[in-house]
Amino acid sequence: MSNPPVASGQELAASNQQPSDNLFTHPHMKKLIIAIDGPAGSGKSTLASLLARKYGYVNIETGAMYRALALKAIETGVPLDDAEALHELAQRTKIELQPRLDGNRVLLDGADVTERIRQQDVTDGASKVSVHPPVREWMVSRQREMGAVGGVVMEGRDIGTKVFPNAEVKIFLDADPEVRGNRRFLQAPLASLHQNAVLAEMRERDKRDRTRADSPLVPAPDAVLIDSTFLTLEQVAEKAIEIVESRQKAQA
Ligand code: DC
Repeated sequence: MSNPPVASGQELAASNQQPSDNLFTHPHMKKLIIAIDGPAGSGKSTLASLLARKYGYVNIETGAMYRALALKAIETGVPLDDAEALHELAQRTKIELQPRLDGNRVLLDGADVTERIRQQDVTDGASKVSVHPPVREWMVSRQREMGAVGGVVMEGRDIGTKVFPNAEVKIFLDADPEVRGNRRFLQAPLASLHQNAVLAEMRERDKRDRTRADSPLVPAPDAVLIDSTFLTLEQVAEKAIEIVESRQKAQA
């Protein structure tokens, strides 16, 4: 089999452009794995990017990897329900995540697909390709390589349950579906034809993500739950930072 097609943790760390406000004030602090899971629109990406900047960690958006594979399947005509063909496609695919201040830049076989993978057909496709166990196995193994050295904030659906069950910090971020749908709509109002359509699509995707047989979206038993329905970003961040700092003390 060929080399791992995703940049390793060290390569990611080397390309990490994120400034940190306390990396150098705590040089001996152990580099933790921070797992953030939750449904679409719960605020995972914003929180992950904020924590990564604060601690000088690498931010890895695992959803972008499923999105990139879905895009390649769409472009090459591989059916989204063919698990084996998708697994084989993944093995011939190079997905790179380059951390940036505002999230990950995503390269698919060297081409920048950062914007394209946020479009509706890919969003829907990513949820479909992610139900297949061979695809998940391939993704999980790449993600473990990327996070192995620690100092990462990894966000997705199965990070605390499957990718890093021993992560020092596990946060499950949730919010009322209406509120999540509205946030999604406000993020890209022009790309969406109708607010109700955004809500309906999100509910369908949520259902698929939560009920699939392999690694469904559920909180790890030891995850700290944060419900962001009535919280501002600052309030969510404050809670998350408290959790991280208590774990840092426990590890010191
Ligand atoms: O986080 P996102 O919306 O970019 O994720 C896109 C899809 O990928 C989502 O519908 C479910 C899937 N996914 C997953 O199954 N496991 C992950 N760790 C991340 C995403």
